[in-house]
Amino acid sequence: DWTMGAYRAEAIAKIRAQVGDAKVICGLSGGVDSSVAAVLLHEAIGDQLTCVFVDHGLLREGEAAEVTGMFRDHYNIPLVHAEEQDRFLDALEGVSDPEEKRKTIGRLFIDVFQEHAGRIEGAEFLAQGTLYPDVIESVSFAGGPSVTIKSHHNVGGLPEKMGLALVEPLRELFKDEVRALGRELGLPDWFIGRHPFPGPGLAIRCPGEITRDKLEILRRADAVYIDQIRRHGLYDEIWQAFAALLPVRTVGVMGDGRTYDYACALRAVTSVDGMTADVYPFSHDFLTETATRIINEVRGINRVTYDITSKPPGTIEWE
Ligand code: XMP
Repeated sequence: DWTMGAYRAEAIAKIRAQVGDAKVICGLSGGVDSSVAAVLLHEAIGDQLTCVFVDHGLLREGEAAEVTGMFRDHYNIPLVHAEEQDRFLDALEGVSDPEEKRKTIGRLFIDVFQEHAGRIEGAEFLAQGTLYPDVIESVSFAGGPSVTIKSHHNVGGLPEKMGLALVEPLRELFKDEVRALGRELGLPDWFIGRHPFPGPGLAIRCPGEITRDKLEILRRADAVYIDQIRRHGLYDEIWQAFAALLPVRTVGVMGDGRTYDYACALRAVTSVDGMTADVYPFSHDFLTETATRIINEVRGINRVTYDITSKPPGTIEWE
């Protein structure tokens, strides 16, 4: 009789056997996988675990506070909050090509992570929230032909670079099992049910060059949009939803005045695994109400569009 309770106990025993009394570093992204891995590890080895959360300045509104609040304050897990926003945003200045943006962020992420993790004395292990599908994917694609549509942001190669051994306590699980394990470990539903968020963060939802001002506008618009979705009880029906800030300004009218502000696009899709996706069929009323709220509540946006492209031919993210 296989239950999550049994898996939890078995996973904890395995972690203890592998790690002994050595120290472990875990990179926290705020996503479900690394979060569940961190809580499981903490239960297994307590303060031998230190989490490193890299804040690249491309997070959503309130996200850094949610992650530090959850792990450091609620779970009491030793957590390094690497506040490196300026380094990332300075490096991205003048960069508008999508692949160049991704590579800049990926490269810097590894440097920054390595720097902060390197200050944790005596660490011998690096923990990762690798899932079973990640394991199969890397096997079945090995050596085969591959087309890179977008270079994915990950920390592959880091363990060897840092001379650390890997701990991967979720390697046998599928996504829905990780969520079940997270619930079993007491992570709140709102946290476990969060939509996926890409490693390069808001950078790939702000086509073209990124500026601090644009990011601030995007954060506000995204927060209003997600609030609308939650208020209408639609969050759990949608696989992923977000706003993208378009690199065009358009003319509008507000009161007696003319405005010249950015346009934004709303995206919402249903999907099973992110490989293909369908547009979520919002009601017309929901869309117009949301557009009105965004334009009234977010300074800098005067036009809202809804992205009705499925995947393929579109991708879920804009870059
Ligand atoms: P696309 O845009 O390729 O996205 O249709 C499919 C899913 O992957 C997420 N995504 C990423 N996740 N690092 C990640 O961890 C990345 O570099 C990355 N790029 C896209 C995207 O949010 C969607 O869920």
